Amino acid sequence: MSDHTKTDLVTLSRHVLADQQAHPAASGDLTLLLVSIQLGCKFVATCVRKAGIVNLTGLAGETNVQGEDQKKLDVLANEIFVNSLRSSGKVAIMVSEEDEDMIVVSDTDRDGDHASYAVVFDPLDGSSNIEAGVSIGTIFGIYKLLPGSKGTTADVLRPGREMVAAGYCMYGSSTTMVLSTGGGKVHGYTLDTTIGEFILTHPDLRMAPRGKLIYSINEGNSVYWDDACVEYFGALKSRTVDGKPAPYGARYVGSMVADVHRTILYGGIFAYPADKKSKSGKLRVLYECFPMAFIVENAGGRATTGTKRILDLEPTKLHERSGIFLGSADDVAELEAVYAKHA
Ligand code: AHG
Ligand code: MN
Ligand code: MN
Ligand code: MN
Repeated sequence: MSDHTKTDLVTLSRHVLADQQAHPAASGDLTLLLVSIQLGCKFVATCVRKAGIVNLTGLAGETNVQGEDQKKLDVLANEIFVNSLRSSGKVAIMVSEEDEDMIVVSDTDRDGDHASYAVVFDPLDGSSNIEAGVSIGTIFGIYKLLPGSKGTTADVLRPGREMVAAGYCMYGSSTTMVLSTGGGKVHGYTLDTTIGEFILTHPDLRMAPRGKLIYSINEGNSVYWDDACVEYFGALKSRTVDGKPAPYGARYVGSMVADVHRTILYGGIFAYPADKKSKSGKLRVLYECFPMAFIVENAGGRATTGTKRILDLEPTKLHERSGIFLGSADDVAELEAVYAKHA
């Protein structure tokens, strides 16, 4: 008997559809929305891979609401996702890192009341790594509109624990999509470019309470760290076992998608803390912290500001930032204990 798994490919579309159909009330709308996001990721992946050839690297010549110099790929990826989300007919409003204001989908582009989702996204994460060919990605989170809402900021200025789905796509040595629709389930899919489908390759991703001993933080900012951070990361570096040095390993890519993906697969702790230089941290709550925290928690990990669960934050501004520590539950719990001691 041949190994049927080689001829019975589980695609993302099929897997999400089966997963959603397990919910009696499922209308298929979320499935169609996720399929449109999948199209956006495939399109961006092709642009990323040929960027150096078709003059898509470098600056676009504009700055965004973050005060960052936009890269050409930031702008292109943003246009691709706005169009793929709008064309799904299931989206009422969107918030993008690259647009200062919320984007409201016109009634003509809505599939009636099926346009019942709000999507927050970072179209291209890790832009500083584009020219170096280092892994970059896309991050997204999805809220169901509040009852009776046609789409206002109130639908997204709410705790991340109310998201119905979140995911990221990493444009690395392979193009990998990691997705959770809650319920403690996280799945990973790898793009097979020969057939243009994301194939289920990492079913039911789980994070052990303690994985590999890795910490992931920009140590260039250590002069700005608060006392709790100095103590916690100092202890990881001076760790001993039976009196012999046994420090944690250090890994830092500088693309949140790549650092978080490694942390989910291998274990350890990723951090971008609030510090004396970035008083509210650097990473944005809606489309970086919430989606990654949603995924990590559903895989069995933890995500905190140091003193508060990330998914319990209640943002008041679309581009609000927060400090974040996420990863293996035991590592993050130890970090929280140090912050509690310094409270
Ligand atoms: P973006 O490219 O979407 O603006 O995000 C960049 C973020 C995130 O990807 C990464 O974790 C962080 O910036 C790295 O910041 P530093 O270069 O300051 O370490
Ligand atoms: Mn940016
Ligand atoms: Mn980002
Ligand atoms: Mn970005």
